[in-house]
Amino acid sequence: MRVIDDSLARILEAVRRVPGVDIAFQDRVAQHLPRLRALFQHLYGERADWVDRLEDVVLLAASASAARPADLKALDARREADPTWFESERMLGGVCYVDRFGGGLDGIRRQIPYFRELGLTYLHLMPLFEAPEGNSDGGYAVSSYRRVNPALGTMDELKELGAELREAGISLVVDFIFNHTSNEHEWAQKAIAGEPEFSDYYLIFPDREMPDAYEQTTREIFPDDHPGSFVQLDDGRWVWATFYHFQWDLNYANPAVFQAMAGEMLFLANQGVEILRMDAVAFIWKRLGTTCESLPEAHLLLQAFNAVLRMAAPSLLFKSEAIVHPDEVIEYISPEECELSYNPLQMALTWEALATRDGRLLQQALERRHALPPHTAWVNYVRSHDDIGWTFADEDAAELGIDAFGRRRFLNAFYVGRAEGTFARGVPFQENPKTGDARVTGTTASLAGIEAGDAGGEDRVVLAHALAMSTGGIPLLYLGDEVAQLNDYSYADNPDEAGDSRWVHRPRRPEANYAARFSADTPAGRVFARLTELIAVRQATPEFAGNELWAFHAHVDSVVGFTRPGTGGTHVLVLANVGDDPVWIDALTLSGWMPDAVDLMSGETGSLEAGLKIPAHGFWWLRVRERV
Ligand code: GLC
Repeated sequence: MRVIDDSLARILEAVRRVPGVDIAFQDRVAQHLPRLRALFQHLYGERADWVDRLEDVVLLAASASAARPADLKALDARREADPTWFESERMLGGVCYVDRFGGGLDGIRRQIPYFRELGLTYLHLMPLFEAPEGNSDGGYAVSSYRRVNPALGTMDELKELGAELREAGISLVVDFIFNHTSNEHEWAQKAIAGEPEFSDYYLIFPDREMPDAYEQTTREIFPDDHPGSFVQLDDGRWVWATFYHFQWDLNYANPAVFQAMAGEMLFLANQGVEILRMDAVAFIWKRLGTTCESLPEAHLLLQAFNAVLRMAAPSLLFKSEAIVHPDEVIEYISPEECELSYNPLQMALTWEALATRDGRLLQQALERRHALPPHTAWVNYVRSHDDIGWTFADEDAAELGIDAFGRRRFLNAFYVGRAEGTFARGVPFQENPKTGDARVTGTTASLAGIEAGDAGGEDRVVLAHALAMSTGGIPLLYLGDEVAQLNDYSYADNPDEAGDSRWVHRPRRPEANYAARFSADTPAGRVFARLTELIAVRQATPEFAGNELWAFHAHVDSVVGFTRPGTGGTHVLVLANVGDDPVWIDALTLSGWMPDAVDLMSGETGSLEAGLKIPAHGFWWLRVRERV
């Protein structure tokens, strides 16, 4: 014990000697170092040099803090004084590709007035780092974390953009793609060249013995690209590649990798990135005989990165991208790990409900899988740049008498247009004949029925967003969806994209739709008007802040119901009908509230005493009062 305490004192002393570190930083080190040390000991304690490696990382944080620009330190202080800033009802995210939406960073800058018009407070720019030419998995194969892809701009421009966005009240969000690098990254190149230091950055094996052993229990993620989890190098060796063959998984069992990636993370923090989207968190630690997903060490690693950031850039938040079983998704979310997380369950079940016209699985998920630890938030999205996977829990479905396997098959068929009567125009992604597994791609408008000309299409787009904007946390818009952008099938003609159907829902900025956004005789105009109204109402409704949600049973299978409690006995009651017919909620069901209710969308007061009609694919946001 004494030895460890000595090591703490030694590290604190070394920190004090780093030129330019301030007292606030030293205090934060004193606060977070014991936690970081414990995590390091778990991860690397078997190595004789683990305390030295820990010291190196803390000194890295010290230099980053010393170099942190004054405006970002001021931001750190503001966020520390207001730690619930991201739980506000005003929060609204947008996500877009830099090239596709703006042509480059410069073009994105010119869109700031539009982002403000929309009410964004958070802008996720899809991967913008240097990446291989041609297929780079949409930039998710990073060749340098410190250089912007020259086709998009420069790191200086990114920094300026971050500052301008901040000025406009918008936080810059970028990906931290830390499970893997591209095979063109300098570390990967050195590993291929046989430099032992860098061979240890990846998981490289001389023959099939270990790959075969691991693949007994790992899942195939991109089976269209390669079977299993490994790809063969030109020299015959095998390297771990969970995703595309050019995305090589980093070896976090090596503390040098942790240190190197902590350095990249701190660098991005000092460029003014306010939120890091932690890509593919489930895959970052491997152990033989397991699925190599969501292992305990994956959490320890994230917590260790979190502790390093708390020291040097305390305003920065992590958003977890864990598209896995809901029991696992939740484990990544805490103020000590990732403060934010995508909510893939709500996303998938919104689509599930729209297809089946049955809201029960979504209702059940809101009742028991929605709660979060204090000071964390869901990022609720209708769709992302990725496919939709049906990640609900089989056991949840079974409780409702739903066969999960059959339901997933139905959903896949429905959303790729193979089921009778479907309104959806999606495309299959990574169909795996070995397992029967498949996922679905498509823009919101195409999946919801607008492309097929279904009469309920626009309502469904609005309904899906009304749910994402009312359940709590940060709603996230895929830019283009607010003007009803349809699928773009031209990806099939591009050899770099043809093999990856996710490109169908990553089209360029739809100029015609944006030009028509104020004209009520186009789907673009009608959807835009209704979504911007939703946004305005959400941002003016304090009950929508935070994450507290109470279930409300409407006793109709097609209706999802819940309330968002406010202060002083008010609630916002949300009732959403995923069915194709209007439904009545009778007065008795609503009798727990005072009879007068305010419809937030129209501002009008009405009585609940006669019951309530919910139109087909319609919803209510009602301010109600508890009975006294
Ligand atoms: C994440 C990204 C996805 C990418 C994968 C590999 O899941 O969202 O687009 O293919 O990570 O980086």
